[in-house]
Amino acid sequence: MRRLSLVAGIAALGLALAGCGGDDSDNSAGDTGGNSGSGTEASGDVEVFTWWTEGGEKAGLDGLVKVFGEKYPNLKFVNGAVAGGAGSNAKAVLASRLQTQDPPDTFQGHAGGELSDYIKAGQLEDLSDLYQSEGWSDVFPKTLIDAITYEGKIYSVPSNVHRANVVWANPSVLEKAGIDPAAEPPASIADWITQLDKVKASGVETPLSIATDWTQVQLLETVLISDLKADAYKGLWTGDTKWDSAEVTTALNDYAKLMSYTNSNRSSLDWPDAANMVRDGKAAYNVMGDWVAANWQGEKLEEGTDYIYFPVPGSQGTFDFLSDSFTLPVGAKNPEGAKDWLRVVGSAEGQKAFNTVKGSIPARTDASAADYPTYQQSAIKDFSTDTIVPSLAHGAAASISWLNDITSAVGKFGTSKFDSGAVSELQSGLTQAASNNLQS
Ligand code: GAL
Repeated sequence: MRRLSLVAGIAALGLALAGCGGDDSDNSAGDTGGNSGSGTEASGDVEVFTWWTEGGEKAGLDGLVKVFGEKYPNLKFVNGAVAGGAGSNAKAVLASRLQTQDPPDTFQGHAGGELSDYIKAGQLEDLSDLYQSEGWSDVFPKTLIDAITYEGKIYSVPSNVHRANVVWANPSVLEKAGIDPAAEPPASIADWITQLDKVKASGVETPLSIATDWTQVQLLETVLISDLKADAYKGLWTGDTKWDSAEVTTALNDYAKLMSYTNSNRSSLDWPDAANMVRDGKAAYNVMGDWVAANWQGEKLEEGTDYIYFPVPGSQGTFDFLSDSFTLPVGAKNPEGAKDWLRVVGSAEGQKAFNTVKGSIPARTDASAADYPTYQQSAIKDFSTDTIVPSLAHGAAASISWLNDITSAVGKFGTSKFDSGAVSELQSGLTQAASNNLQS
């Protein structure tokens, strides 16, 4: 059985909202400690907006709802979820609700660039007081708090940490192709391509499965991490690494090659469909976040026998990070009720109920790894030792508009022949997206 590799290194998130960063004096915990469950006497409906409607995603939400119901019986959870992986439909619905001053009581937003857009648009309330009263500045990693802090104020409550650079593979399909699933995974994209060729030669039509545009963006980000390595990848988001450079061309050529092994019905699939192609033996590999682990744990699949996982080849020792966090929008109808929801999200009990079934690891540092399935245990270990980089597809690395621009270029490439002309068009599109969105 393969495990994600444990490569030593000092974890450093290295991301903070533009023009801000954590401010210790503002973030320091009060002396009241955590007081979840003793917040307010709020009552009424609390509309919670997410994109978690099925499988492990729904199970995670249900876990939070259960704790919320036990702690706050006067409040009624109202499910505002809009289906579609990575918020592919939800984010547009949310944007229009925020625009028309009809916000839910709380919504899910990714720590980092995505959250900074909502903050800068004046759409979120400052939650620093809640951090004081709950003692949260002591239990969330400072680097994560930095990613949700703007001008010294904290704007969301992180529920988890997910990893995006994971390959999920079917051991039986690999064996049939003459690849030993128990051996060390491929060390680079080039080695992985050799394996993909073997899988293809064994008669598998789709060696690597993929779904709609955002999953292609996620594959691309992991190839950039593998080929450029952590520092140069982080430089893409600051302007230090140029999108029109030769090293990016090399990565895009690798990305094009990988896309040539994928299913042509990609644009009509969402992430569970592509992951299930691996589960069902129709594909050998899929690159997806560790929400896949939640679905397969829920389906009682066996790690090692039914599936294996490893970091995207070439990205060993790097943890491509994202965090779902919950907010209090300006104009929420039940702000006190929403704060009680946030108290549950930030509590040890809420984080355990959520993350044990969501494939993610707790954002709180005081959780016990022994409470978690083996996949999460390995991720907890990796998060503490790996180099941490921000995910593009899941709102950590870039603003919403930058991600949208990249997604258009990548989506267009996804309908091409993946030839050299398409690669140069992709590179021009990505370079243009950076110049449109990079702040000087
Ligand atoms: C991410 C989100 C995860 C998971 C995934 C697939 O954006 O952070 O929690 O839901 O989308 O939908």
